[in-house]
Amino acid sequence: MSDPKATVNPTVEQLVERSNRLGADPRNTNYAGGNTSAKGTETDPVTGEDVELLWVKGSGGDLGTLTPGGLAVLRLDRMRALVDVYPGVDREDEMVAAFDYCLHGKGGAAPSIDTAMHGLVDAAHVDHLHPDSGIAIATSADGEQLTSTIFGDQVVWVPWRRPGFQLGLDIAEIKEKNPQARGCILGGHGITAWGDTSEEAEANSLWIIETASAHIAEHSKAEPFGPALDGYAALPEEERRAKAAALAPTIRGIASADRPMVGHFTDADVVLEFLAHAEHPRLGELGTSCPDHFLRTKVKPLVLDLPASASVEESIARLQELAVSYREDYQGYYDRNATPDSPAIRGKDPLVVLVPGVGMFSFGKDKQTARVAGEFYVNAINVMRGAEGLSSYAPIDESEKFRIEYWALEEAKLQRMPKPKPLATRVALVTGAASGIGLATAKKLAAEGACVVIADLSLDKAQAAAAEIGSADVAVGVQVDVSDAAAVQAAVDATVLAFGGVDLVVNNAGLSLSRSLLETSEKDWDLQHDVMAKGSFLVAQATAKAMIEQGMGGDIVYISSKNSIFAGPNNVAYGAAKADQAHQVRLLAAELGEHGIKVNGVNPDGVVQGSGIFASGWGANRAAVYGVEEQDLGKFYAQRTILKREVLPDNIANAVFVLCTDQLSHTTGLHIPVDAGVAAAFLR
Ligand SMILES: NC(=O)c1ccc[n+]([C@@H]2O[C@H](COP(=O)([O-])OP(=O)(O)OC[C@H]3O[C@@H](n4cnc5c(N)ncnc54)[C@H](O)[C@@H]3O)[C@@H](O)[C@H]2O)c1
Ligand SMILES: [Zn+2]
Repeated sequence: MSDPKATVNPTVEQLVERSNRLGADPRNTNYAGGNTSAKGTETDPVTGEDVELLWVKGSGGDLGTLTPGGLAVLRLDRMRALVDVYPGVDREDEMVAAFDYCLHGKGGAAPSIDTAMHGLVDAAHVDHLHPDSGIAIATSADGEQLTSTIFGDQVVWVPWRRPGFQLGLDIAEIKEKNPQARGCILGGHGITAWGDTSEEAEANSLWIIETASAHIAEHSKAEPFGPALDGYAALPEEERRAKAAALAPTIRGIASADRPMVGHFTDADVVLEFLAHAEHPRLGELGTSCPDHFLRTKVKPLVLDLPASASVEESIARLQELAVSYREDYQGYYDRNATPDSPAIRGKDPLVVLVPGVGMFSFGKDKQTARVAGEFYVNAINVMRGAEGLSSYAPIDESEKFRIEYWALEEAKLQRMPKPKPLATRVALVTGAASGIGLATAKKLAAEGACVVIADLSLDKAQAAAAEIGSADVAVGVQVDVSDAAAVQAAVDATVLAFGGVDLVVNNAGLSLSRSLLETSEKDWDLQHDVMAKGSFLVAQATAKAMIEQGMGGDIVYISSKNSIFAGPNNVAYGAAKADQAHQVRLLAAELGEHGIKVNGVNPDGVVQGSGIFASGWGANRAAVYGVEEQDLGKFYAQRTILKREVLPDNIANAVFVLCTDQLSHTTGLHIPVDAGVAAAFLR
């Protein structure tokens, strides 16, 4: 018996290559949208006979990055035999579970709802895609007429139907009755194309997409979104970004009323142009269209109905009012459409918020989901532009949108999602995070699910540290000198623009110049107080403002020091700056508690490993003072402790993490010593 897994079947190879090419161009399909398939033969390892198989992109994955492992593999004879037991459209959802009985071997990825369309259509290669140009035709009021005008008998119109077994049967019938056709436009949804060879299917897909797009370009009316609206043009970039940053925390708070969300912001031209024209309020209300979109974007966005010139205060006041009516509307939509067996309402807050002159804020359970929600709304804008240019935009009815959004199969997928990590949805800003304790803390917070902003003096180092942690969906690096109020504000602005807001702040930036009273210059004193005492005050002030606007509570953690209470030798400026920070913890814990903001501190001692402070002379100096080799300093410090353990950056990071979890939800104003036990620094 030959090992069937030893080589990739050439049919699969071709399918993956075609999928990757199609998925790489956003004009062809939205992120993780659409699916492709191929039919072919393989030797059945049980019988040694040829067996006909269907390889189809499984549930969830993205075409652009599809690999053979992302394909579901079904036996074609068994899959097609389902036609005989199909109980009718009312019970079509049951067919998804039946696909499991058609799998070949272990079956690969989980079969998606679109499997029926791929299996039942009598063509060796099938592509189902969500191109903006195709959906523009699919959502035009006279889409059926347009399809025949644009494509003649080459492309057939299929009236809207929720994806499933019946849609597969419909398309199979159309293909059979129209042997000349290259594919179809699925009303309210997207396109499906086919071919006898992989090349032919791909060429037909691209032909439909490009023909639709060329027709729109040639025949669209001049201003599909209506005339320009006075006062709604994009603000100049700097002003736009500043206003976006000023509004971001409030908007995130609105989007997070039911459950905390991570945010994404874009001021792409396509969004600003949409918002600058007269029809955007009407179109915004009509909502998104493609079935892939509703779960990510909700049926419609919240649109601020004020011109670009509105002040931040006016905008915030109006956004708060609109949030109340958005939630009432959404409850109404749920109540109008829900049936007794519908899943429970999932939250009433908007996932897309549009601000004329400024841009779009989108939200999700993590940064990637938030970003994709924004991408989907950009798809929707493109669709609306195309549809309005040729005809008028007429997405599927509200009741059908509801049937998609609250589909039992989608609900089951949500229920199967792994439990979120402890810091999921939380946005952390860690100062001095390009090195030592700060870097270890940033890594820990990211590993526990937080989005992290690494702020440090050197942009290069901050960005390198962020890249070490992950993609821009997880960590970004920004430049800051924490002793400069404007720079701190800029870093906080960058944080809220990167992830929507801020929840967890670690005041870690610092430096140590250990000198005796007589040797400490005024400059030494000022520098250490500027970076640690004043710097953490400035960071706490700017971030607390954002946290109060968000109304989601928060955590501020100070990396103080054993030296904040212990009178170490030759340490007047550093020790006094640390004592200042430690008292800020108590003062701010008392002041910010009413906003649900906890303020705590960690008192490390003797963290040599990875520490820039120790590497830059301080370590050599201490080693000389104590008469040990510099590389043995960590071990030397360990011997001075009660536990005789060396303190590592990770030990500090763990303490920060614990302070910010639910486990210490009722603790504020505390300092945790992480020093392996130093009796002289016991808190009392
Ligand atoms: N290492 C220890 O034993 C120890 C003990 C107690 C407290 N601490 C405190 O822990 C914190 C981190 O120390 P570390 O040992 O990791 O040192 P480190 O030198 O490795 O890291 C400090 C980081 O802060 C940054 N920084 C300095 N000035 C800044 C400024 N003005 N704006 C922004 N960033 C600035 C530096 O560029 C550096 O990346 C400090 O506050 C330090 O006082 C350290
Ligand atoms: Zn689809």
